[in-house]
This record gives sequence, C-alpha cells and structure tokens, in this order.
Amino acid sequence: MQEKYIDETKQGEALVVAERSENNKKLFLESYGCQMNFSDSEIVASILSDQGYNTTLKAEEADLILLNTCSIREKAEQTVRMRLSQFKKQKEFNPKLTIGVLGCMAERLKTKFLEEEQLVDLVVGPDAYRDLPNLLKEIEGGREAINVILSKEETYADINPVRLGGNGVTAFVTITRGCDNMCTFCVVPFTRGRERSRDPHSIINECLSLYEKGYKEITLLGQNVDSYLWYGGGAKKDFGKASEMQKATAIHFSHLLEMVAKAVPGMRIRFSTSNPQDMSLEVFHVMARYDNICKYVHLPVQSGSDNMLKAMNRQHSREAYLQLIKEARRIVPEIAFSQDMIVGFCGESEEDHQATLSLMREVEYDYGYMFAYSERPGTLAHKKMQDDVPADIKQRRLAEVIALQGVLSTKRMKSYVGKTHEILIEGTSKKNEHQWKGRNSQNAVCVFDKLKGQKVGDKVSVYVYDNTQGTLLGKTIEHQ
Ligand code: SAH
Ligand code: F3S
Repeated sequence: MQEKYIDETKQGEALVVAERSENNKKLFLESYGCQMNFSDSEIVASILSDQGYNTTLKAEEADLILLNTCSIREKAEQTVRMRLSQFKKQKEFNPKLTIGVLGCMAERLKTKFLEEEQLVDLVVGPDAYRDLPNLLKEIEGGREAINVILSKEETYADINPVRLGGNGVTAFVTITRGCDNMCTFCVVPFTRGRERSRDPHSIINECLSLYEKGYKEITLLGQNVDSYLWYGGGAKKDFGKASEMQKATAIHFSHLLEMVAKAVPGMRIRFSTSNPQDMSLEVFHVMARYDNICKYVHLPVQSGSDNMLKAMNRQHSREAYLQLIKEARRIVPEIAFSQDMIVGFCGESEEDHQATLSLMREVEYDYGYMFAYSERPGTLAHKKMQDDVPADIKQRRLAEVIALQGVLSTKRMKSYVGKTHEILIEGTSKKNEHQWKGRNSQNAVCVFDKLKGQKVGDKVSVYVYDNTQGTLLGKTIEHQ
C-alpha cells in the first residue's frame, strides 16, 4: 500500500543486487528520502560495480557502507545519525571498513560530518558521484575524502543505472536534477543545486533499454519535471541567451512526455514531481492523447492559504491552483491527484489551517503526504521568519489533515468500485501469497486472486468489487 504519511524513522532500504562474477568487494548501500535518492543510488552502484564492488544486503559482510541521505526534515537527519551509530562496533572490529555518507546531508554538512561523526571516512554530494573511484583511492591511502561540489551540468546521462532491489517491472528514469524554485522552507535548492535537464536522447534510450529488459512502467523523475527544458545543450538558466531557432525547437516537458509515450507504447509512463506554477495545460492534453500515460499527477500545494503560499514563495495562488485542477479534470476526466502539505509553517493561523482543510475538500485528493513544518538551517524561512507555531498545535493540525485525507482517500477509492481497471501486476501481495498486487492508471493499489497463467509484469483487466482506505479489492475478468 502506498504510504499515506512518511514516517522518517522507518525509512531506509538496503538495495540489492548488482552481481558481477569478477567483482570481489562488497558494498552495502542504503537509501533514505525521496525517489531521486533511490534513483541516484542506482547510479552509484553502477559506478562502483566498475570498481570491483557487488552490492550486499548484509552490512556485516560489507567492505564499504554507504548511506544515501535526506535533509528535508530534521527527523530524516536524526534517523541517519542513529543508523550511523549502529555501525560503530563493526568499524572497531574491522578498521578497514569504509563508511561514507552520500546525498543531501553530505551536501548540507560538508566537512562538519567528518568532524562530528568520527566513523565517517567519506562524504560525497549528489553531483560528485563520478569522483567516487578517486575518493576511494584517497581513503586507501589513509586519508578521509570529501567532494561536495555542485554542478550546473551533471545529469549522469551516460551512466547506465544498475537496477537495484526492484520488482523488474517498474523503474525510475531521471530527467532533471536540482531545483531553482527557492520555496522558503526547502533545503533542496541548497543540497541539490541548480536545475538542469538531461539530454532527451539518453532518456529515450534508457526507456527503450528498460522495455527490452522487460520493464512495463517507468516514472520520469525530477524535483520539478514540468520545467524540463532542452534546446541542444545546457541548463535552463541560459535559455534567455538561446537563439530564436533554439527557442523555436526547444523541447519542453510536454514534448518529452509525448516522445517517450511514442517511443515505448507498451510501457506505462508516470512522472513526478509536478510544480503547479510550472505545469502547462499541454501536459494534460498529451496525457489525454496517450493511453500509456497514467492518469495521475502528484501536485504538491503545501497550503490552502494565500498568506502561507506567499510566505512560502510558491508562485501561485489558491485560486490559480484550483483552476489548474479544474482544467486538468476537463481535459483528462479520470485524472487522480495527490498532494504534499506542510502544516504549522511560520505564522500559520487557525484560519490559514482551515483554508488548507477546505482546499483538500474541494480537490478531493486520492492520496497525500503530510508534514509538520521542520525548520531547516540556511533556508530563507530560517533566516527571516519565526518558527512560531507551537509543536502541540502543529501536531494537532497534522492529525487533522491526515484524518481528512483518510476520509477523502476512502471516498476516491470507493469511486473506483464497480468498474473494470487495467492493473499492472507488480508482485505478490504482502498479506496473502495467493493474491497479486498491482496498481491502476490512477496509482491506486489493487489486490486480487492469482489465476493460472498470470505473471508479474502482465497487464490484466480487473473488476473492483470493494475497497479499504488505501486498497482496491478486485477479481480478474477472464477473457473467453
Ligand atoms: N519538488 C520536490 C519536493 C521535495 S520535498 C519533489 O520532488 O517532491 C518533498 C516535500 O517535503 C515537499 O513537497 C514538502 O511538502 C515537504 N517539505 C519540504 N521541506 C520541508 C520542511 N522544511 N518541513 C516540512 N516539510 C517539508
Ligand atoms: Fe523544494 Fe520547492 Fe523545489 S519544495 S524541491 S524548492 S519546488
């Protein structure tokens, strides 16, 4: 089932298995945070596979332990610190063990990490993974190693990610890195740097190669996919300097989406994350034209109050957001939406909070990811605003938005009952080995009894006869 509320203390997933018989070193690689980190870990595994490392699920047998970390909220960082402390004994026992921190915490804390966490030998930011082989050599020479240089160009376009720990059916394909939006609460622009788009040819090639390997669903990934922009080279910020010809032939996200949909017609396509201010209606028109593009958009709004949206530096109003949803539903009637919401941001009043609840009721989201505001050092909110909503009020408001989302999710799930859905089988249900688990186009999870001849990766017609808050209960429609 899709997690409704991200509990950072429970995150962290070790990834298997990149096996090459000639490799004789073992890498334990654990990822925290967003999908982008999981996708980056596949790039890291690919780079290290060329350096003699196979991945392992057992930290005890590793020569190299890497944690790909998240800084988005304080709790996410605490989880990583706790995890690191668990490796202390192992390091004492085996001084040759190398322990490294990758990703957003590495970028945020830089050399502080080496000072504060004595057992860490290696600190690498999200744009410096190509340097891992050199950094590991430095460590072999007895030094600590760090590279946290951010890049305006790096997209790892030519690196073929090793697919880790997946189901062999669904995969992530990164299309943009970084973010230029500067929401006042958010640390991402500082930890992941400037926004840049990946060469469309390398994206299409990766999708084709995934399809050949049997994958049936891809998610195009970026902090902000809708601002994807390619005009023959380079970052979005230079677009002003592009020639008229380059501007006329530039590839925007809607074009890329259409190119991918055409290139791999047998592949289901999803994308994440969309930012309301950058989303063009053309994206919805493309979604409507292609059956293989899933009818689901994750469209974070953060708050339903204009005061808060302004303080957060979101570049849209409540009204503009609601209008976008309305237009989207006109163009793609069966579309589903999910949200990210922050409660208790600086200065949030009870009225602002009520506006969030009323926006949720108006949109009727399928799912939501809801968070209490967590002040992040270095952000504009930290520098210029007061984190003035008391913790108990934040928690009460959080409980209210979570409870409301529960009601809305149940309602949306109910609307799928009594209809037939195309479900892509992703694997066996965790609760019942005689049942499959998969998702419909709207990203709703569905479980149904296994029938002879069905296998993982099949798309099957399933009649949904009932639902719970997060799951559809179905039955395969047998073809004559
Ligand atoms: N565009 C990004 C957003 C990354 S952060 C994406 O790809 O999803 C994911 C979500 O975390 C945000 O949408 C926001 O709801 C939440 N978030 C970010 N900073 C936060 C903070 N300081 N406190 C609480 N929640 C935060
Ligand atoms: Fe963060 Fe806003 Fe970008 S939430 S990732 S700064 S769109």
